[in-house]
Amino acid sequence: MSKFARIIGTGSYLPPEIVTNNDLSKTIDTSDEWISSRTGIKQRHIVSTETTCDLAQIAAENALEMAGIKSTELDLIILATTTPDKIFPATATLLQTAIGATCPAFDLQAVCAGFIFALTTAEQYIKTGAAEKVLVIGSETLSRIVDWNDRSTAILFGDGAGAVVLSGSNEGGILHSKILSDGKYLSALQVNNNYINQTGFIQMSGNEVFKIAVSSLSTLAEETLKSCGMTAEQLDWMVPHQANIRIIVAIAKRIKTPLDKVIITLDKHGNTSAASIPLALDVAVRDGRIQKGQTLLLEGIGAGFSWGSVLLKF
Ligand code: ACO
Repeated sequence: MSKFARIIGTGSYLPPEIVTNNDLSKTIDTSDEWISSRTGIKQRHIVSTETTCDLAQIAAENALEMAGIKSTELDLIILATTTPDKIFPATATLLQTAIGATCPAFDLQAVCAGFIFALTTAEQYIKTGAAEKVLVIGSETLSRIVDWNDRSTAILFGDGAGAVVLSGSNEGGILHSKILSDGKYLSALQVNNNYINQTGFIQMSGNEVFKIAVSSLSTLAEETLKSCGMTAEQLDWMVPHQANIRIIVAIAKRIKTPLDKVIITLDKHGNTSAASIPLALDVAVRDGRIQKGQTLLLEGIGAGFSWGSVLLKF
């Protein structure tokens, strides 16, 4: 049985269409200055006809290629998404067929914490010996549940996908993981449909979400480091959920991590929910910032609230 679950490949994909803050200011009462200063976001990618599965497929194929394994060698696929293509079947099974895999595949829904929850689940399969090679993806077409007339939410979100291939390993890999949920915050952040067959849109109390995100993720980062007997100086990189630069700065400040050790992609991607962490990870792996053997802290929070962290040796 393997001691650790280790990332052996990363991949991502963004749909080609870019919507800038200036583009948004033509249809809603906002400005690039307001959005940039309050969120750090400058642009986001938006799908035209692509589905959540389409985005996931390209991200997954990129990750498999880096890992040097074929899709038929996978033992499990876990797809974190808030925006599945259908109520059923699971988008993960659509993806399984699209990439030519034969293993079990399921969706996991923990909104913006989805990738952390999926990674943690995959880790358990590998550590118990139930699986050796697992594909974990975060893929979202959030633009389909954004009310493009609501300036308080339309400025934040984007579409995209990120993926990792995990393998059993006796050195390196995930050293610590933790997931948490507290379901009493329905009114702070939700999609406003009561029935699953009604179209709904994201509704959010931005200030409340902001405060909870900073406080939950800062506390979790401190606890994670403490559990591992580590200090923030021993981290090579933080790869946080990309929601708002002010949330990221506040957490980095509280755990005394300089911003040049934090991977930031929200300026170009916006908030891509479950896709944001694996997207940021893949960008930094491919541009050479994240190197094999380095220590990374991944953290995310989403509606519910659900939140979690993974500390790993890359
Ligand atoms: N353009 C211009 N003005 C705006 C806009 C806009 N897009 N949106 C709101 N305003 C106005 C408001 O109407 C308000 O005007 P008023 O003072 O006349 O009433 C003013 O700007 C201030 O509004 P606030 O909501 O207080 O602005 P705040 O500084 O809190 O920023 C924001 C709002 C950016 C949404 C912030 O609260 C935030 O990012 N919160 C976190 C939310 C988040 O990240 N959600 C993602 C999902 S959950 C997750 O991923 C963690």
